Amino acid sequence: MKFFIDTANIEQIRQAQNMGILDGVTTNPSLMAKEGVKGKEEIFEHYRTICGIVDGPVSAEVFSTDYEGMIREGEELASIDPKITVKLPCTKDGIRAVKYFSSKGIATNCTLVFSVGQALLAAKAGATFVSPFIGRLDDISEDGVALVEHIVKVYRTYGFKTQVLAASIRHTNHIIRCLDAGADVATCPLKAIEGLLNHPLTDKGLEIFVKDAAKMQ
Ligand code: E4P
Repeated sequence: MKFFIDTANIEQIRQAQNMGILDGVTTNPSLMAKEGVKGKEEIFEHYRTICGIVDGPVSAEVFSTDYEGMIREGEELASIDPKITVKLPCTKDGIRAVKYFSSKGIATNCTLVFSVGQALLAAKAGATFVSPFIGRLDDISEDGVALVEHIVKVYRTYGFKTQVLAASIRHTNHIIRCLDAGADVATCPLKAIEGLLNHPLTDKGLEIFVKDAAKMQ
């Protein structure tokens, strides 16, 4: 399972990249707005900086909701850097735009996916990634990881090439359950990635080793 970081924060992207485990980045308009970037020039410069840090794909989401706007914006975003994946909402216009970009060989991430039916249309349109939102489903008492499992099963049964990118991950247990579900990618906040390291026996064991090592110096 690949690891993407779900943030537009440069410092956090650098930290994850320095850990040596980062395969890519996902952003969305809310995450970009949080970084205080404003206007096309600043936004594009921010994406250029992110692309300069990571080796893998960087999802950049369109702001438009109509087909023509998505195509115009997506083409501009894709021209920033070959690492850019155009992120498009799973709507009628969004699916049309996914088809347009996939036929041009431009990578896409079909986002805001909450059902197997939506994931099916994203795959049929040729999306590179499909993003089921786990946390937001859990927030309304549904089972987000069960949706990931279902999509993975359908894609494997029918041989769809679209990669299942588990999104809206909130904690380490989501990540572990996504591994079991067979997700191709998990996009996670830095805190959830670092949380995977936490174990009291590691802390306790290290404390003892450090003490014993000191006796030999
Ligand atoms: C990533 O592609 C999504 O935009 C993101 O994971 C949404 O996460 P949230 O539900 O925590 O906002």
